[in-house]
Amino acid sequence: MPNILVIGATSAIANACMRRWADPGVRFYLVGRSAEKLDQVGFDLAARGASVHQYILDLNELDGVADMLDACCASIGWIDIALIAHGTLPDQAACQQDPKVAVQEFTNNGLSVIALLTDLANRMEAQKSGCIAVISSVAGDRGRPSNYLYGAAKGAVTTFCSGLRARLSKSGVHVLTIKPGFVDTPMTQRLTLPKLLIATPEKVGRDIVRAVEKRRDTLYTPGFWRLIMLITIHIPGSIFKRLGL
Ligand SMILES: NC(=O)c1ccc[n+]([C@@H]2O[C@H](COP(=O)([O-])OP(=O)(O)OC[C@H]3O[C@@H](n4cnc5c(N)ncnc54)[C@H](OP(=O)(O)O)[C@@H]3O)[C@@H](O)[C@H]2O)c1
Repeated sequence: MPNILVIGATSAIANACMRRWADPGVRFYLVGRSAEKLDQVGFDLAARGASVHQYILDLNELDGVADMLDACCASIGWIDIALIAHGTLPDQAACQQDPKVAVQEFTNNGLSVIALLTDLANRMEAQKSGCIAVISSVAGDRGRPSNYLYGAAKGAVTTFCSGLRARLSKSGVHVLTIKPGFVDTPMTQRLTLPKLLIATPEKVGRDIVRAVEKRRDTLYTPGFWRLIMLITIHIPGSIFKRLGL
């Protein structure tokens, strides 16, 4: 039965994955910044028979990452699956007005993930097994006026994971880059999105669990986003500028 580390364990998408993984014998190590929300998630998984450990950390506190990973390894011993799920959807207009907001959001969605992966990768490389599954976004495939700060951070994560995958493949560690489209979670509550394109966290969670099992490199979820993004990245720049996406 696997040992599973979940970073940003209070995320709706992470929860959908964890409910699928939860079974007697499975050991979860949950990391999040809200003790109250972590407790709720932990109770749910424990009720399904899993064993649950919790650690409170704001992932922007980069100095806290090594201690958290030490504590994780001391508690559950080794990591079969690490799911990296934390993130925020920035207010693009605020990012354009205030460099501090832009840097803060880039740190939360990009640099904090890269810092975490840098330490985690070395531990998994020494372990010579396991899967690191990282939630990036289709937004990282091409910058759009409406969310290019978020897209730039996710694009950095996607590129980092591509290199990390090639490096860790030599040690038997698998890296999965997850690119969801629009998902109905607390993150997107304030947005008006095209109904036909919105997926449930359950659908996305099912796709992620299957992609981890099949050791896929990149997952677009739902799958139709692969085609949408293929078209999007090939739109000539002169036309893309005028589309106002
Ligand atoms: N929903 C979408 O349409 C969509 C699309 C593409 C990609 N994604 C990505 O999917 C991932 C999961 O998001 P979601 O849709 O499940 O939204 P969500 O339910 O809002 O989950 C995001 C989680 O990240 C946590 N978090 C944010 N910053 C953190 C930090 N510095 N330290 C610790 N925890 C932090 C939040 O914790 P609190 O609850 O304590 O704030 C929240 O639980 C994110 O990486 C997101 O960018 C989502």
